[in-house]
Amino acid sequence: MTSVHHNAVSSLASSPLRLGIAGLGTVGTGVIRLIRQHTDLLRSRTGRSIEVVAVSARNRTRDRGIDLSGLRWHDDPVALAHDADVDVVVELMGGAEGSARTLVTEALKAGKAVVTANKALVARHAQELAHLSHEHKAPLLFEAAVAGGIPAIKMVREGVAADALTRLGGILNGTSNFILTEMAETGRAFGDVLKEAQDKGYAEADPSADIDGWDAAHKLSILTAIAFRPIVFDSLAVSGMRRITTDDIHQARTLGYAIKMLGVARRLPEDRVEAWVQPCLIPARSGLAQVNGVYNALTTEGPFSGPITISGQGAGEGPTADAVMADVIDLARGHGLPLWGRVDEQAPISCEPVESLVSRFYLRITLADGVNADTALSEIRTILGNEDIAIEHGHHHTPQGTAAQLILLTKPVTLNAINRILPILEETALVNDTPLALKVEDLP
Ligand SMILES: NC(=O)c1ccc[n+]([C@@H]2O[C@H](COP(=O)([O-])OP(=O)(O)OC[C@H]3O[C@@H](n4cnc5c(N)ncnc54)[C@H](OP(=O)(O)O)[C@@H]3O)[C@@H](O)[C@H]2O)c1
Repeated sequence: MTSVHHNAVSSLASSPLRLGIAGLGTVGTGVIRLIRQHTDLLRSRTGRSIEVVAVSARNRTRDRGIDLSGLRWHDDPVALAHDADVDVVVELMGGAEGSARTLVTEALKAGKAVVTANKALVARHAQELAHLSHEHKAPLLFEAAVAGGIPAIKMVREGVAADALTRLGGILNGTSNFILTEMAETGRAFGDVLKEAQDKGYAEADPSADIDGWDAAHKLSILTAIAFRPIVFDSLAVSGMRRITTDDIHQARTLGYAIKMLGVARRLPEDRVEAWVQPCLIPARSGLAQVNGVYNALTTEGPFSGPITISGQGAGEGPTADAVMADVIDLARGHGLPLWGRVDEQAPISCEPVESLVSRFYLRITLADGVNADTALSEIRTILGNEDIAIEHGHHHTPQGTAAQLILLTKPVTLNAINRILPILEETALVNDTPLALKVEDLP
C-alpha cells in the first residue's frame, strides 16, 4: 500500500513529535490542555513524546487560562510552515480563506504534515489540498473537522474501508439538532430556542452556518469524498430549517416520524453521487431519530458491513481536542494516509441534481380564512392528482391561534413535481401561504 509519510514525521520514530499550533481558541487551548494532562498516555500509545514547541494567535497578551511560557510565539501563523523545529502544523484558526488557507498550503508545500479541524477549508479547497498533499507527500488529516469528537472520518476511511458503501447519512450539526430537540420537547418556537442557543454559546451571533445547513454541508462533502468520490462543493443541495414549526414536529410525530436536519449521500449507478443537506422526516424508530440535543451521529450502510451508527458530542473543547490528537497520534505512529484514503487522485464531480431524486414528501398547506378544510382536502387531492402526485395520507387540523392546515404525505415523487405544484397551490383561493414541503428519508 502506498502511504503518505513525511520524513520528519516518520524517520525519527523515537524522537519527540514537535507541534506548531495556529489558533489558541476553544480547540487550540483544549489541545494544549490534553497534551499536558495525557503526556504519559500519549507516549505509551506512540512510543514517543508529543510536544508543542510553537504557537500563534492574533492577540499575544490575551489570558487563555494556559501557560504559554517556553513556547515560541509567531505573530504570523504562516511562519509555522517554515519553522524548522515544527514537524506537524496544527491549524485551529478556522476560515476557508486567509491565514488558515495560506498556512495549510505553505506547510504542505514545505512537506510538513498538517492536522486541521477546519471543515470549511477542507470542503471548499479539497482538490487543491489533495493535490498538494499528494505532490509533496505531506499528510493532511482532519478528523476533528467532521462531527467533532465522533470518529466519523476514521469510521468511513478505515473502519469500513473495504466495503462499497451505498449510503451514509447523519446529524452533522449540533446546534440545529439542539434547536429541533428543544422545540419537540418543550413546544417552544424556533426563534425562542435559537435565542437560548445563542445565549448558551451553542449558536453563533450569525447562526446561518448552523441553521441554514452550510456547516453540515462542509462535513457531508468531506465524508462523501472519502466514502464515494470527491464532489464539487457548490453542487451540493443545501436547505435550512427556518420554516419548521413545533406544530410540524408534532404532526410528523403523529405520523410516526421525527424531523431532523440531515446530511445524506448515496452511491448511484454509473459513478454518480447524490448528496444533500435538508430537514427531513425520518422514522421515529430509526437510530438517528434517537439522537438529541447537541449530539451528532453518523449512519453508514454497505453490503458487507450493514448499517452502523455512531453518535457523540460533535463539538466543544474536549471532544474536538481529542479528535485533533487522534490524528496527531496517527502521525506519531508513522501512519499517514492519503487525503481521502485512496492512493489515486480523483477529480471532483457534480452531485446529481436533487430535483430529479424521488422520495415521499410531507406537505403542510395553510388554508385561507373561511375555507372548509374537508372540501379543501378533496380539491387539493384532485389538483395534486392532475400532476401525478398521489397522496398516501391526508388530514387537517387547526393549530392554536392559526388558520386550519392540511397535512399530507405523498407517495414517491420527484422534487421537480413538488416544486411545480407548490406555486399552483399557492395561487388557488384555498391556500394562504407558500406550502412547506419536507423530504421523507427512510433510514434503518
Ligand atoms: N469549537 C468547536 O467545538 C469546534 C468543533 C469542531 C471544529 N472546530 C473548528 O476548529 C477551528 C477553531 O475553532 P475554535 O472554536 O477553537 O475557534 P475560536 O475559539 O474562535 O479560536 C480561533 C483562534 O484562532 C486565532 N486566529 C484567528 N484568526 C487568526 C489569524 N489570522 N492569525 C492568527 N491567529 C488567528 C484566534 O486568535 P485570538 O484568540 O488571538 O483572537 C483564536 O485563538 C475552526 O476551524 C472550527 O470550525 C471547532
